Amino acid sequence: MRASLMLWMCLLLLAGPSRAEPEIFKGADLKLGRQLIAEHKCSACHARNVGGNGDDIYNPKGRINSPGLLRGMVDYCSTQLNLGFFPEDTTAVAAVLNREHYKFTAK
Ligand code: HEC
Repeated sequence: MRASLMLWMCLLLLAGPSRAEPEIFKGADLKLGRQLIAEHKCSACHARNVGGNGDDIYNPKGRINSPGLLRGMVDYCSTQLNLGFFPEDTTAVAAVLNREHYKFTAK
């Protein structure tokens, strides 16, 4: 009983920090982000470049090493592709990519 309580507390400690969202992604509209990613076929084009389902394009070399850079990359890409993203669209997409791939946490 006591041992399992200890284990539980350790798990809580381990899980705690990793759940904290970076400041710039707080309140991001994840539903909107997923919708935009699907709508603009981000993965289809990435898959043409890296194969598979395209997920391997995300941070293969660890070049993107902060939430700000990630958001900047989405901003850059969406501008290049002329997607007409509003700032909150960019944040929403970056927040989803962070949750699913990059996993940056608040410092
Ligand atoms: C027309 C093709 C194409 C489309 C559409 C596209 N991308 Fe990309 N994207 C690329 C290519 C090619 C790279 C790799 C660039 C490099 O490595 O220099 C890339 C790289 C990225 C990266 C950086 C990956 C890393 O960690 O280095 C992000 C983030 C990204 N794309 C987001 C998006 C999002 C979000 C969308 C949809 C809104 C999107 N892209 C749509 C071609 C595309």
